[in-house]
Amino acid sequence: MSREVAVGTLDELAPGQRKLVFVDGRSIVLFNIAGEIHAVDNSCPHNGASLASGALEGCMLRCPAHGLRFDVRTGCMPGAGGLSLTTFPVRAEGGKLVVSVADSAASSQA
Ligand code: FES
Repeated sequence: MSREVAVGTLDELAPGQRKLVFVDGRSIVLFNIAGEIHAVDNSCPHNGASLASGALEGCMLRCPAHGLRFDVRTGCMPGAGGLSLTTFPVRAEGGKLVVSVADSAASSQA
């Protein structure tokens, strides 16, 4: 089961911008890439580094710690296999940004 949590407004996240939000102690980074909103866990699956300040190349996010790259749309690394970054469904509804998170991570909102 998942729950939808409001994490701010679309106005706060213009194209090219990112925003860090917290849901039940979990840190989630939102990206607006050319008008598409994406949400990923702010914890690199390699060694847990924060991804909030990682460089974006298109939809590829580079971890600032060791340089692994993840597609923020899918959470996957380029090529087959590899580590997978947790992504969250996110949508804009009536100007609000709404993220779907597993129930265990959804007891509060940012
Ligand atoms: S912690 Fe992200 S690449 Fe190592």
